[in-house]
Amino acid sequence: MSLLLYVLSKEKTHHIVVNVWISDKHSGNLMCYSSCTMCMAVGKYFVGETKEAGEVPEESSLDDDDGVLPRVVAFTHHYLQKHGKNYIMWMGWKPRVTIMDPDIMKDVFAKSNDFQKPQSNPIAQLIASGLVNYEGDQWAKHRKIINPAFHMEKLKNMVPAFHLSGNEMLGKWEKLVSSKGSCELDIWPDLQSLTGDVISRTAFGSNYKEGLHIFELIREQSVFVQEALTSLYIPGFRFFPTKRNIRMMTIDRKIKTSIRGIINNKLKAMEAGEGNNDDLLGIMLESNSKEVEEHQNKHHGMSIDEVIEECKLFYFAGQETTSCLLVWTMILLSKHQEWQSRAREEVINVLGNKNIDLDGLNHLKVVNMIFHEVLRLYPPIVGLARKVEKDLILGGFLLPSGTQIGIPVMNIHYDEEFWGGDAKKFKPDRFSEGISKATKNQVIYFPFGWGPRICVGQNFALMEAKVALAMILQRFSFELSPSYVHAPHMVITLQPQHGAHLILHKL
Ligand code: HEM
Repeated sequence: MSLLLYVLSKEKTHHIVVNVWISDKHSGNLMCYSSCTMCMAVGKYFVGETKEAGEVPEESSLDDDDGVLPRVVAFTHHYLQKHGKNYIMWMGWKPRVTIMDPDIMKDVFAKSNDFQKPQSNPIAQLIASGLVNYEGDQWAKHRKIINPAFHMEKLKNMVPAFHLSGNEMLGKWEKLVSSKGSCELDIWPDLQSLTGDVISRTAFGSNYKEGLHIFELIREQSVFVQEALTSLYIPGFRFFPTKRNIRMMTIDRKIKTSIRGIINNKLKAMEAGEGNNDDLLGIMLESNSKEVEEHQNKHHGMSIDEVIEECKLFYFAGQETTSCLLVWTMILLSKHQEWQSRAREEVINVLGNKNIDLDGLNHLKVVNMIFHEVLRLYPPIVGLARKVEKDLILGGFLLPSGTQIGIPVMNIHYDEEFWGGDAKKFKPDRFSEGISKATKNQVIYFPFGWGPRICVGQNFALMEAKVALAMILQRFSFELSPSYVHAPHMVITLQPQHGAHLILHKL
């Protein structure tokens, strides 16, 4: 086979597809290996087959989300329809197996040493390295040190920080509605700022202002990284002194210097027995030194550089994902007013109009059901991937080492065989008796992943989202604005492409 050329084509799908055209030396056939840089879907087709992937709708309907899958995960949707639930495709010369069988998926998630994460692009590591990318002993060490920062008894101390950030956003909304009692607003940028603000406060505590500055830099870096990821990948190109590369390196240096400064101050305060360690960084540093002391060996702990990577990861992994959860929740509650009323009734009954505490949050059953259902229909991470580390048998098939495994989270969440004929409908009461009842104890629901590598920030995210939604429901009612266009699309996470224009009414 000989490589002919790379073609970067911007398809109607809004997905940018890198097509690698290859001519078969024997048959002379021209084949195209296509890789979607936005949704990571990859496929092989002969010329002309792209059309088959179908016209991707400009927008989809909120009444019955038929158009969502072809819009968000066009390639996977097409291949699943064409080839059935478990199929193989080619990523260049490597096979990629997509699976939707609950028992096989359970195996893949549970055996995290046999099925590891595929290596991410080195450019992506500029914004997200750390725990999410490690494997084996290094992963186990970091996970053990980081876990305590997300324990419930630590998270409950963060509720006031969630509250402060929420107050700031709602104060701004209150000003906007003050003259008429209502206003139209694209809430998407505000929700993104809210979750960034929350991470700055909860990660860095008293260094919150410095944290906000880091957040701005990480945001700027993500835009560059996104651009780089959707351009042609040339190994080593990131070291060329282009304007973008120089700026990315400068930002990286600034972020690291700022976080290093905060860490050094924290360590000094800890040595002097001062300050409280209720923030994520403080808890992580404390847990780190415990680990070192216990083993009398600094290799059992994380280095300062590793702690810096974990702090950056908190922003990256926790900010955008949680704002996605909140934005789709508000959009769906705007459409389904009956659920908005039920949620508000519950919030008022349980919390009144007073400040929110952990005990109150634990009693918000309807809100919980709503979040589960939103995460089913609009999971911020629409697909997960793994790589086979050694030749092994999975579901009766021999998979050679290096085979990639795709788990199409969103397609599984919409599958009628698993969820019934109303799978595409927003029906939070399917979760009225919890997740295991709704899934009939099958591994078919994983907005936060599953198994040992399940999201470490799951409780943090749900608690933050509950506080924010409860505060919004206490003060506002909301509906879709006529200018709202339902256009979910994937930019690493599942976002509303044209924003979320709602009409807010002060209560
Ligand atoms: C609604 C919000 C969130 C969603 C939907 C989400 C989703 C996920 C998913 C699907 C994974 C597993 C990835 C895989 O198996 O390949 C994951 C891992 C992870 N998440 Fe989250 N996440 C959210 C919030 C957060 C927050 C708030 C934080 C931290 C502040 C966080 C930190 C992490 C980390 C560090 C990992 C890697 C865990 C490991 O590999 O051991 N996430 N998340």
